[in-house]
Amino acid sequence: MRVFVTGGAGFIGSHLADRLVARGDDVVLLDNLQTGRRENIAHLIEPGAVEFVEGSVLDRGLVRELCSGADVVVHLASAVGVRLVIERPLESLLGNVRGADIVSEAATEAGARLLFASTSEIYGKVSDDCLNEHSDRIVGSPQTARWGYATAKVFGEMLAYGYHRSGGAETIVVRFFNTVGPRQTGTYGMVIPRLVGQALIDENLTVYGDGRQTRCFGHVADAIDAVTGLLDGGPELCGRPFNVGNRNNEISIADLAQRIIDRTGSRSKIRLVPYDEVFGDGFEELGKRKPDTSALRNAIGWEPTRDIDTVIDDVVRHLAVMRDSLPSRLYGSRTRDREPSRELTDEAS
Ligand SMILES: NC(=O)c1ccc[n+]([C@@H]2O[C@H](COP(=O)([O-])OP(=O)(O)OC[C@H]3O[C@@H](n4cnc5c(N)ncnc54)[C@H](O)[C@@H]3O)[C@@H](O)[C@H]2O)c1
Repeated sequence: MRVFVTGGAGFIGSHLADRLVARGDDVVLLDNLQTGRRENIAHLIEPGAVEFVEGSVLDRGLVRELCSGADVVVHLASAVGVRLVIERPLESLLGNVRGADIVSEAATEAGARLLFASTSEIYGKVSDDCLNEHSDRIVGSPQTARWGYATAKVFGEMLAYGYHRSGGAETIVVRFFNTVGPRQTGTYGMVIPRLVGQALIDENLTVYGDGRQTRCFGHVADAIDAVTGLLDGGPELCGRPFNVGNRNNEISIADLAQRIIDRTGSRSKIRLVPYDEVFGDGFEELGKRKPDTSALRNAIGWEPTRDIDTVIDDVVRHLAVMRDSLPSRLYGSRTRDREPSRELTDEAS
């Protein structure tokens, strides 16, 4: 199968590329390296196992060219992470909306199956016990930058459903819930790499709010099992969204921080940081984010299998070898004393 992956040098994209190459698919990756890194896929580029194109999904001509001849297009490219969404709201909103428009149109024209990466953020503030694909959405004010990301993803979803309904295109939507693993970076606010990085350099682990908010962390390898299952499945999957996450791994952020300290043997302590100090006034925390993944189980028999300790240990192993560069990976060019004011997306927790 010929698979074209946008955002292929990113965290999920690079793991997907590994899996596709291992099973013998012909893989083309497009990435502008905004948050992705060439080092994530260097082991695939150098031996010629994939074709890597450095460029943007906003380049319509390029996207059309790369879609033609593809059996499947996986659209992962997105302005991701609280820093980008907050600091450059218009650019990230337009990038996500225009990217979804260009890629879904080109994939449809090429007759390729399209997998569109959406997010649990689209459920907005709903914090029900288990969110299923038909749960209502309650989103906040459009003046809050956080909801721009969710809105752009909803737009992408609705394009996918529209192309399916109007022309029978094979489009599938994947709503990722807190997907974690090696190669994910803490620089943009993702909580597990950030806390593991702090633990590895014996710096206090900063937990926002009272730490009682819970999240369900899914291992990226489980997510890739889900994505490949959807790529390979029958036409009955098309025109539908599927949650991908691990409801069995629900944990409060305070317990998560303690577990990371225990598993790394760190001397760090936990420091609770009030939300308004980190995110400014008016921040609304989501109490929990728990996916109901029964639709995916019923559709392709998928169940996540990696527990929270496996998730943590795999991130620890990955970051431990780059201990010296962790401060800059965690904080970029910012000083450690003052993290930027940012809002929490679901991926950041
Ligand atoms: N990791 C999670 O927990 C999670 C949760 C919900 C949704 N998602 C979605 O999954 C997808 C992959 O996310 P990820 O966690 O791997 O993040 P990531 O930042 O590692 O991947 C996104 C990739 O897209 C690339 N990109 C951004 N703009 C681009 C453009 N205009 N042209 C080409 N490439 C561009 C980035 O450089 C990066 O490599 C995203 O669409 C994201 O919204 C991820």
